[in-house]
Amino acid sequence: MSEAPSRTAWIIGGGSGIGAAMARLLASRGWRVAISGRRADRLAEVASGSRLIAPYPLDVTDAIAVQAVLQQVVADLGRIDLYVFGAATWQPLTVGDYDFAKFQRLVDTNLMGFVRMANPVVAQMTHQGGGQLAVIASVAGYFGLPRAAAYNATKGALINLLQTMRTELEPRGIRVRMIAPGFFKSELTAKNDFPMPFLMETEAAAQRAVDGLLGSTRFEIAFPRRLVWLLKLMRMLPYPLFFAITRMMMPKR
Ligand SMILES: NC(=O)c1ccc[n+]([C@@H]2O[C@H](COP(=O)([O-])OP(=O)(O)OC[C@H]3O[C@@H](n4cnc5c(N)ncnc54)[C@H](OP(=O)(O)O)[C@@H]3O)[C@@H](O)[C@H]2O)c1
Repeated sequence: MSEAPSRTAWIIGGGSGIGAAMARLLASRGWRVAISGRRADRLAEVASGSRLIAPYPLDVTDAIAVQAVLQQVVADLGRIDLYVFGAATWQPLTVGDYDFAKFQRLVDTNLMGFVRMANPVVAQMTHQGGGQLAVIASVAGYFGLPRAAAYNATKGALINLLQTMRTELEPRGIRVRMIAPGFFKSELTAKNDFPMPFLMETEAAAQRAVDGLLGSTRFEIAFPRRLVWLLKLMRMLPYPLFFAITRMMMPKR
């Protein structure tokens, strides 16, 4: 592993799911970890498990709060070696009846939440001479699938944006990373009523993400491998074949 002791991380979405598990893993390796999310009780619960984890409640749709919390995190930790944006919300939307408010909430959290935080985080990392900027996107962002309209669109947009940022931020010593998990157990997937192939345990997914972040420098950290390769093959298919497959994913009438 290439990690040095006493590194600092800030995880957005660290009060639950993969974010909380990543915070615990980093703390177990000696990292000091700030965790953010809206639910202060969930953050406090995660932080109570380690003296190296500290809670910083934050709603990523609130631009003023973003600035204030970043300043507090930097004041407390000194710098941010690793920033992980994992805040997201998900719900299925019905084509022809897109609920504008729900669609907007998804975009405002998953995509614009990251954008809102990008300027101050990049400014801080530039100031401190570099760092790692990671986003938990999803294999769902590889292409559009039935019933996942807004969520997939936000993850696809994030992947595209991160590709741009990877090249642009390299000269400043900021390494942009894109984490693309398949399905793992969490509050987000608990509401799914469809089959989730190769479903992983949350801790296993977090381990893969942390290993990828600390043990490699590659852009994409995608898992589980079997699902990722199937989807990547699918991405290469000509559209008639691609849509022949996605048609089979439609719910039976
Ligand atoms: N589970 C999967 O199969 C899967 C697969 C691929 C990618 N992912 C991605 O993994 C990430 C974590 O998801 P998870 O599955 O671990 O579920 P999760 O536990 O529901 O994590 C989502 C996190 O986002 C935070 N969040 C939501 N809205 C927020 C807001 N406005 N401001 C700040 N934080 C906010 C939530 O905290 P609060 O509610 O307290 O704000 C929560 O901690 C997400 O980006 C998700 O898209 C998940």
